[in-house]
Amino acid sequence: MTARTLIHDGDHGGDDFITTLMILGRPDLFDLRAITSNFGNVPLDLAADNALRALALGGRTDIPVYKGAEKPFRTPLKGGDDAHGENGIGGAVLPLPAIKPQERHAVDVLIETLENAPAPITICPTGPLTNMARVLERAPHLKSKIEKLIIMGGGGGPGIKGHIKGNITKFAEFNFYMDPDAADYVLKSGVNLVLHGLSTTHQLLYAPDKHHRITSIAPHGETLSTIMRAAEHLDQKNFGENGAYIHDENTVCYLAHPELYDTKRVHLSVNTDPASPEVGNLIIGDEDPHAPTELVTNLNNPDAAFDFIADCLQRLFRS
Ligand code: RIB
Ligand code: CA
Repeated sequence: MTARTLIHDGDHGGDDFITTLMILGRPDLFDLRAITSNFGNVPLDLAADNALRALALGGRTDIPVYKGAEKPFRTPLKGGDDAHGENGIGGAVLPLPAIKPQERHAVDVLIETLENAPAPITICPTGPLTNMARVLERAPHLKSKIEKLIIMGGGGGPGIKGHIKGNITKFAEFNFYMDPDAADYVLKSGVNLVLHGLSTTHQLLYAPDKHHRITSIAPHGETLSTIMRAAEHLDQKNFGENGAYIHDENTVCYLAHPELYDTKRVHLSVNTDPASPEVGNLIIGDEDPHAPTELVTNLNNPDAAFDFIADCLQRLFRS
């Protein structure tokens, strides 16, 4: 089986960082062509630098990083929640590699890459969807050259741990809150997508009884664990969990093991009213077997998902 061509679009906080490493750990499954950076967990420049740090740690400084949106699609930049700490990766100390982001803008490169691709490309957006919205607005015909967007964002809908609508406000998940117009535009664009929201990502917890599975991965296990725990302080404060939720990593885990995730085809949109307390809220519409948008409704085997994450990291640093 040939490796899937993949682009990772992220706001490189801790879980974006681990997601990139997972991709690098499975070159048999994924051919990572580029990382495109979006503002979010940290400002754009730091998101791109953290992406470079992940590529350097994974020994793949040949893969280009392109900087994209530094502010939202239609509205002014809002304050975030510093969930992943000042440096975006939980305070982990990683040298900035010699490589730099490419000069060209991520949206220009995404459009050109999709135009010239011999076959549709899969993209994993794990931050605010500004870059994706700009690509689809400028070149709507390229929908057909996007195999699928595997997105982390939104609340997700009723799940076995309840309907967790938000984590930065009661009603909005961070990525959709930081750019609700972009999220709404992408969800209604007609592009094929699978959406991993909080109601299912909250089923996957990096808890103390799992720490040894990561810290034992030589030689960077302690650093990887620090990065995976970057937002733990907020998860404990806001949700009373003893551990850190695993969000973005589900996008890559889904690509390798879709059988671990239950989905339904529904129409999706986002509250974009800046005056509403529910701005950024994921609105779940009618079920429709022909809808291009799939919502993940359950992670039916969290342990298997965690095993896959740990295995990707072990393979990367063992190789
Ligand atoms: O709400 C969780 C999401 O927001 C994750 O993608 C995290 O990295 C932040 O971007
Ligand atoms: Ca992210």
